[in-house]
Amino acid sequence: MNIRGTTAELVAAIRAMHQRGRVRLVEDPYALALCGRSLRLLVRLRPVAWVITRWMLRALRPSMLGVLIRARYGEQALEAAVREGIAQYVIIGAGLDSFAFRRADLMAHLDVFEIDLPAMQAIKRERLRKAGLEPPARLHFVSADLGRVPVMQALADSAFDPGRRAFFSLLGLTYYLSRDVIAATARSISEGSAAGSRVVLDHMLDDPAASPEDLRKRAALEAYVAKRGEPMHSAFSLAEMSALMAEAGFGTIEGISMKDLGERYAEELGPLPFEIPGIFACGYFEKSVT
Ligand SMILES: C[S@@+](CC[C@H](N)C(=O)[O-])C[C@H]1O[C@@H](n2cnc3c(N)ncnc32)[C@H](O)[C@@H]1O
Repeated sequence: MNIRGTTAELVAAIRAMHQRGRVRLVEDPYALALCGRSLRLLVRLRPVAWVITRWMLRALRPSMLGVLIRARYGEQALEAAVREGIAQYVIIGAGLDSFAFRRADLMAHLDVFEIDLPAMQAIKRERLRKAGLEPPARLHFVSADLGRVPVMQALADSAFDPGRRAFFSLLGLTYYLSRDVIAATARSISEGSAAGSRVVLDHMLDDPAASPEDLRKRAALEAYVAKRGEPMHSAFSLAEMSALMAEAGFGTIEGISMKDLGERYAEELGPLPFEIPGIFACGYFEKSVT
């Protein structure tokens, strides 16, 4: 698994810009403080940020919207899991997510394990310190390179209890991984966690019924990121992702395109200020009892 830490910076900047909107898919008052200096400046220069995101980075726009959709989807799934008594939350590739600070309501019920590269976590700790944010006692940083160490091995030296159910989030990662690495990660989670544990993830959608417009957006996005050295390695239909997770021992609670999630959220929040292309999807899975 190898994704540049800079993607975490971009995610924080997207979340920070999103806070200005009237309709918010995710509330993140700490995103701006967690951005690096140059991105913080850019986010503050509104007209410049607007031109950059609408025009210069327009190929990236579908994934920018995906950042917001997946964050809402993941946290709603987590809320349901917490209501059902799950008390461990593992954020795989947490980046600069401020969950532990902005969701005190859920933190009251959870131990949170953030897994990321050591260098990324060092940057995050430094930014938290500068922002005067003291990590809560139940937030556990687990430094690991998941390209070398499987998820459950990384958690072995932490306070994670494999005998109790857990909620794993794998958001913003799968498209950079091959099918085999995703399958191995799912197996590692399945083998090392209690029955009833949950996984939420997002993936590139290989939709046989995709519109020509969506296919064009997907090709533009793939070309853009490949040119910048972060090629996308996998895409799945909803049925293929469900089959991959089933092989690892997970039943599908839901698989849904981000386009359909956009419609769901528009019903919850009112019309969204943007249209979601059908090139990404989210999935929610539960480890079956064997
Ligand atoms: C795009 S960010 C996702 C942030 C957040 N989960 C989200 O949904 O917006 C990807 C994160 O994965 C981390 N990452 C990439 N490769 C990794 C690896 N080999 N081991 C551990 N973390 C990795 C990066 O450092 C980065 O923070």
